[in-house]
Amino acid sequence: MCGIIGVVGSADALKILLDGLERLEYRGYDSAGVALVRAGETWRARTATGTASVASLRDECASAPEGFVSGIGHTRWATHGAPETVNAHPHLDCSGHVAIIHNGIVENHGPLQAELEARGHRFTSVTDSEVLAHLIEEGRADGLELLDAVRASLLVVRGAFALAAVDATEPNVIVAARRISPLVVGTAKGATFLASDVPAILDRADSFYAVNDDEIVRLGPEGFRAVDLDGVPVRLRQLAIDWDLETAQKGGHDDYMIKEINEQPDALRTTLLDRRRDDGTITFDELRVADEELRDVRRVVIVAAGTSHHAALVAKYALERWAHVSVEVDISSEYRYRDPVVEVGTLVIAVSQSGETIDTIQAMREAKRRGARVVAVANVVDSSLAREADAVIYTRAGLEVSVASTKAYVAQVAALELLALRLAQLRATLPAPDVEAHLLGLRAVGALVSRALGRRAGVEAVAGALAGAHDFFFIGRHVGYPTALEGALKFKEITYLHAEGYPAGELKHGPLALIEPGVVVVAIATDPALHEKMLSNLSEVKARGASVVAVATDDDDQIDAVADFILRVPATEPLFSPMVDIVPLQLFAYAMARGLGRNVDRPRNLAKTVTVE
Ligand code: G6P
Repeated sequence: MCGIIGVVGSADALKILLDGLERLEYRGYDSAGVALVRAGETWRARTATGTASVASLRDECASAPEGFVSGIGHTRWATHGAPETVNAHPHLDCSGHVAIIHNGIVENHGPLQAELEARGHRFTSVTDSEVLAHLIEEGRADGLELLDAVRASLLVVRGAFALAAVDATEPNVIVAARRISPLVVGTAKGATFLASDVPAILDRADSFYAVNDDEIVRLGPEGFRAVDLDGVPVRLRQLAIDWDLETAQKGGHDDYMIKEINEQPDALRTTLLDRRRDDGTITFDELRVADEELRDVRRVVIVAAGTSHHAALVAKYALERWAHVSVEVDISSEYRYRDPVVEVGTLVIAVSQSGETIDTIQAMREAKRRGARVVAVANVVDSSLAREADAVIYTRAGLEVSVASTKAYVAQVAALELLALRLAQLRATLPAPDVEAHLLGLRAVGALVSRALGRRAGVEAVAGALAGAHDFFFIGRHVGYPTALEGALKFKEITYLHAEGYPAGELKHGPLALIEPGVVVVAIATDPALHEKMLSNLSEVKARGASVVAVATDDDDQIDAVADFILRVPATEPLFSPMVDIVPLQLFAYAMARGLGRNVDRPRNLAKTVTVE
């Protein structure tokens, strides 16, 4: 997704912009650019398609004149207009003095552009964003300060965005604004910074502040001030940031993905830390929902996207089993466009690693509009979802950089299962000793994940043996089904090979027609209660020539009869197994992708944080 960076008041401005853009690369982008500004001069460099990397932008910037102390930079993920240099940000107004960068979509750009063109403005790109440059230009021509010119333009644009603007006729000022897309401001002595997220400016700023929706900030070397859409001053909330730069880097690993896969035991431990009081009560410090309200919940609806949706599916099994509450799981982008029923006692849980996925935020808003209480399960502290929900449970998995989510997933499952146990306590649907036993079991999962991680070499051997295969079905039953979905998602995201997740019982209703020699079926076969059924499913696909890879527990001595390859995992309680069983599947996807030479951290066409619909 697009990334924004800005700096005012530093002799190192260009370097700060380029370094910051590099740290925003993980968000996904297909073009990049910077604009430097000083009295009477706006200097711009942009790169796109094929060459779109911050490294090539650095080359372009080698010819930048000396002496700029302010500027803005952008990585673009194309929405309107092809990923070409003319569409790369920053965009200029007709005078060439105003430069803007924009993340999100201006929904009414069509009519606005027509009006602006009728008034004589010339457009040079095929983007929705460029209207902002011309709207601001008009405000400046009317004598407005840059802050008010940006504010005036926000009154006419519809959509979701974060934007920043500079003007060579008002140098040493950046004006930025946010409506839905994330934006943070950082301050240090003599310089002020702006970014889509904290890591981009982590080593430059001392203090960080979150910009809220429809707030406009004017940054100068001496600091910043903010106003709302009416021009009334507002205070930005300071963020408590405890990351160091090391955390945001690869920590000696080849890439972020394997680093984050290996961090899963820690992520689980941290997520479960301090969640049990001495009297055995499960507690979430951040959760601001009264016990009575949780106890009286009649129905739970979970909304989420991508990997978070798979964590939600696992949670359904736990909530139903332990808390005896009816659970519906919905894809965020579907929920908001239906007519979802919210009755008294409906609790909506919105799950998101980033807390910025637009579909999940909008689903949450729709649920709130209909009167639901919304609990966010988010990884990024102070993210939009976390701020807007009635209550929040943080997954505490730490910064996740790789586009394909791994450690955030296991942390989400753990946090949601903990919530299920809390509901079971409040509703008295499980005897206290059982809750206690499950809590102990949940705490033990981290060690089992470590053991599964220790078997990486075995997984790599299986991946090596299957090199060349390009059709994969992942099947499972019960919680093995969401595990199959997540295994297939991980696999397709980073290998670019065809992979589908299926409930094993559905094979005979369609996919069996596709099974033939060369097809690989990956089965999650760790549930003892459903083991026989899974063995029958595997016999069926084997009889039709498929190669079978089974995720099976250490003590399973029947699986050899049907599996060509076995990925062994330590056994655990079925409801905890998704956190353990996903490990060999992550490692399998990773090994296959590396074998194919893929960029595992930044798979093509995908973004870490999806802030457009
Ligand atoms: C993108 C990411 C996925 C993620 C999904 C939902 O597609 O590439 O890794 O699962 O968004 O993101 P969220 O931040 O809401 O969990």
